Amino acid sequence: MHIPVLLQEVINNLNLKPNDNCLDATVGAGGHAHAMLSCTSPAGKLWGFDRDRTALMLATQELKSFQDRFIAIHDSFANLDLYQEQITKEGPLQAIVADLGVSSMQLDISERGFSFRLSSPLDMRFDQNRGETAADVLNSRSAKDLQTIFSDYGEVRFARTLAQAVVNERKARPFHNSDQLVALVEKVSPFKSFKLRRRIHPATTVFQALRLEVNHELDHLKIFLPKAISLLSAHGRLAIISFHSLEDRLVKNIFKTASLDCICPPEIPQCRCNHRATVKIITKKPIVPTNLEIQNNPRARSAKLRLIEKI
Ligand SMILES: C[S@@+](CC[C@H](N)C(=O)[O-])C[C@H]1O[C@@H](n2cnc3c(N)ncnc32)[C@H](O)[C@@H]1O
Repeated sequence: MHIPVLLQEVINNLNLKPNDNCLDATVGAGGHAHAMLSCTSPAGKLWGFDRDRTALMLATQELKSFQDRFIAIHDSFANLDLYQEQITKEGPLQAIVADLGVSSMQLDISERGFSFRLSSPLDMRFDQNRGETAADVLNSRSAKDLQTIFSDYGEVRFARTLAQAVVNERKARPFHNSDQLVALVEKVSPFKSFKLRRRIHPATTVFQALRLEVNHELDHLKIFLPKAISLLSAHGRLAIISFHSLEDRLVKNIFKTASLDCICPPEIPQCRCNHRATVKIITKKPIVPTNLEIQNNPRARSAKLRLIEKI
């Protein structure tokens, strides 16, 4: 079962009122969406995006009591602008939420290949109808490319050794299954203390890196954030929950730029950029889960919530 992360904090900060329209960019199992629809009854609409058709079916089931107030969209949030007309013709959009990454259900279904703890095909695509799988990435990219993926997206400290080991191994045995990758990571990792449970397993960040690459997650997020800001109506709020530093840094920087009246380099004495703030930052520091939430839902431990309000 997927437990929505930072649910109360999201709801407390969205300021939703009856009949407000809102959007969940990563509807997943519908946890956040359910709470948002409850706040906006009797007539507020909620558009729920997900790249994963199975997740969208689960959300539709979970939200069926809200009937046509919930509109499911099988697409990436990066394509938000394609739905602008459909959304704005229903009235102002008061809130957008994105709870990034992977859901507990996706981690628990072995065929999806998201978890290094389950023996599974190396797939890792949110949308199983398109794009390269993790196995395709491992079997086709150069050692240099793989090193960049492991180090940029996973901050894997033995990225170069691992990339070379992948290229050597696939000549004899192309990658299909997570067990093969986990065994290779364990063999080449210089950090053996994970066996004593003193460190996270070294495959954790390798799997994260592959997942980010397969789904182009940071690119989609970078495209989505300005579109989300532009779609919100005045005083509408945007809430993003991220789960690792790469995402959080991206969110923080885009929010900061959108909140500035000038983005000229400091050495330029007079503003030439004509940039104008479109948002104000609500969370100077990100909101993080309480110890109690982490105890009840360990997946929440690395979550960070940032919010802005459209001016
Ligand atoms: C952490 S789960 C969301 C859980 C949801 N908030 C809930 O309470 O049930 C993240 C979801 O985002 C989806 N997802 C990831 N990247 C996406 C993207 N670019 N566009 C739309 N959905 C995406 C995943 O398929 C997954 O179902």
